[in-house]
Amino acid sequence: FEVYAKGLGAERPELATTFDALQEQARAELPEAAYAYVAGGAGEERTMRDNRAAFDRHRLLPRLLGEVAQRDLRTTVCDTQLNGPVILGPVGVLSIVHPDGELAVARAANELGVCHVLSNAASTTIEDVADACPDAPRWFQLYPPNDPEVRRSLVRRAEAAGNEAIVVTLDTLTMPWRPRDIAQAYLPFLVGEGIANYLADPAFRAKLERTPEEDPQGAVGMWAQTFPNPGMTWSDFAALREETSLPLIAKGVLHPDDARRAVDLGADGVVVSNHGGRQVDGSVASLDQLPDVVAAVPDETAVLLDSGVRTGSDVLKALALGARAVLVARPWVWGLGLRGQDGVREVVRSLLADVDLTLAMCGRASLEDAASLLAPGHDRD
Ligand code: FNR
Repeated sequence: FEVYAKGLGAERPELATTFDALQEQARAELPEAAYAYVAGGAGEERTMRDNRAAFDRHRLLPRLLGEVAQRDLRTTVCDTQLNGPVILGPVGVLSIVHPDGELAVARAANELGVCHVLSNAASTTIEDVADACPDAPRWFQLYPPNDPEVRRSLVRRAEAAGNEAIVVTLDTLTMPWRPRDIAQAYLPFLVGEGIANYLADPAFRAKLERTPEEDPQGAVGMWAQTFPNPGMTWSDFAALREETSLPLIAKGVLHPDDARRAVDLGADGVVVSNHGGRQVDGSVASLDQLPDVVAAVPDETAVLLDSGVRTGSDVLKALALGARAVLVARPWVWGLGLRGQDGVREVVRSLLADVDLTLAMCGRASLEDAASLLAPGHDRD
């Protein structure tokens, strides 16, 4: 109502109100390389397009007069209480998009009470983000480095800073083939901006002969030896499980057998994700894998979904197919790039309002009722 009420005063929102228009606004206003970093995907970007096409293949079947005056969007995922089924997914190196970077996101999440996931490839430290977001739940995302000491240290810091879960991303053990980033020769800049959590880490610093302040290049060189981890195995995953008592959520799962494996080794949740189409061009859309993953794991496992969620109806489709909640990335990253903290808040608030109104108009008052929302027979093209 608030949004429409502004319109009564002929006040138009500053940010575009559909994803494609918002992305177009970002393309016009952001530096070319920053735009390319966020907008781009792997290869020909087929998987990026497929992610959205997968949502288009499902239809909702609204019911009437469902007593929807009081609605409840709250849910609990891996012991974290969420005020809605939307989580801000981990995005690295946000200083590239806006000078306030991760701090702006943390403050916006704090204002809204929405859970956000801090990337370990952030341009801000775990501790500074915790200070900026004292009142909303936070999770920490880890790309496990190849040095177990550094891995343990990052996890310990995440725990000490009050994060409520560790999200371990398993689909990024090497650099993906991303033509837009390659064309922009962007890697050195990304690395320079995205290693704040390593430079501040005691276990990482102990590996250096001279401090990063004295020898920044030496620190980057050591990071380049520590971060890539293509040799990671399921036994490293099991070791990580032993190293924290926080809920552990495996991100990047597409195959049901991988979901089961992660759960067998102690994962509390999985994120069905192809990283927004940024890793394997031509890989299957996340949404298309969701039902098989849900069927493969025990009921108590929290199955989350990301990649291509843009609207309230997308969120509800994912919930109807068995997701407990969704992660979203690019929409709020554009909000950040265009208007900083206010932009993140605006985009996320709008998405939550869209979820709420669409749920109501479908005649449902709570997320448990979302299971029966899909129209049968519309899931194949
Ligand atoms: C990402 N993503 C990501 N994931 C992760 O686990 N760690 C990270 O550091 C990053 N970094 C990152 C940067 C940028 C610019 C983007 C767009 C994405 C992936 C992200 O968490 C998520 O899986 C997808 O982006 C979700 O798809 P949508 O919502 O962007 O379509």
